[in-house]
Amino acid sequence: MNLRTSEGRILSGMRPTGPLHIGHLFGALENWRKLQDEGYTCFYMIADWHALSTEYQNPESIRNNVFEIAVDFLSCGLDPHKSTIFIQSMVQEHSELNLLLSMIVPVSWLERNPVYKEQIAELKEKDLHTFGFLGYPVLQAADILVYRAEFVPIGVDQLPHLELTREIARRFNFLYGEYFPEPKELLTETPKIPGTDGRKMSKSYGNAIYLNDSEEKILAKTSKMFTDQTRLYKKDPGHPDECAVFAYRKLVSKNHDDIRNKCLRAEIGCVDCKKQMGRDLVSFLEPIKKKREYFSRHHEEVWKILQAGSEKARKVAQQTMKEVRKLIGIEYKK
Ligand code: TRP
Ligand code: SF4
Repeated sequence: MNLRTSEGRILSGMRPTGPLHIGHLFGALENWRKLQDEGYTCFYMIADWHALSTEYQNPESIRNNVFEIAVDFLSCGLDPHKSTIFIQSMVQEHSELNLLLSMIVPVSWLERNPVYKEQIAELKEKDLHTFGFLGYPVLQAADILVYRAEFVPIGVDQLPHLELTREIARRFNFLYGEYFPEPKELLTETPKIPGTDGRKMSKSYGNAIYLNDSEEKILAKTSKMFTDQTRLYKKDPGHPDECAVFAYRKLVSKNHDDIRNKCLRAEIGCVDCKKQMGRDLVSFLEPIKKKREYFSRHHEEVWKILQAGSEKARKVAQQTMKEVRKLIGIEYKK
């Protein structure tokens, strides 16, 4: 991946629907931090309006989650001096662009969106037959296009939304003049980290390790992890590439090549391997935990960062909206 034009603006976001787990760390935040350190102009957003599209019946939880996610962002190394860290609802230009784009998006594009169909089927306990939920990808397109971002670091699950964003950009450009770049995805190289039971890590499966879990909790969770299901005895050779514990070791243990060989040659047992992985994970998360403790105690500092980030983002978004209104011809001031 060599896209270091340094002009390239990046935007990505996360919905504040609950505490972040190590899947978010390895799957997204580590990548976001690298991009920031490579000198891209990065906008990282807490998508509270997107959270509202599924949590509209109990919006009280969102405010607290916004704070917690901000703490996670900062603790994982997102640096407000390098990146613009902000809250979606504090930049109301997103909502104006959402409205304008909604005029040109055919409903059929939204109804055939596979993410939409999946979520409606999966989250049965929630009534998601709303205008806002159907229009979720239009708001996401507005998030990206309002910064005229060229790159969007996301997971594969978000690809249909980015494809829609490109279609919307093309349609806008066709109707009103070439203006929006078509954003490209930046997929993370780390494969998805499995949950403690080997399935996809998810809050709803109860198999996640959270960034705010205590050391005891992490050790307890990892000690119950599934290993190579086909390895019954210590004398049997293991299959590290099919083992959830090894997926973690690759990320947190320094000598993982060595471990792989020992596993293949049946020179280590799974119980010991798992124990060592738990300890390595705890040490790996230690610096993040220290920062988390600091920011959790400094509410005002965190809110100030979000305030300043949102102001910075708003300046860029305001400029875009001026130009967009002019292109469509809906503006009456000189
Ligand atoms: N839909 C994304 C998710 O659920 C969050 C999101 C909202 C986003 N707006 C965005 C991601 C813009 C990338 C760009 O993960
Ligand atoms: Fe997995 Fe470690 Fe057991 Fe090998 S030794 S199967 S890597 S837990």
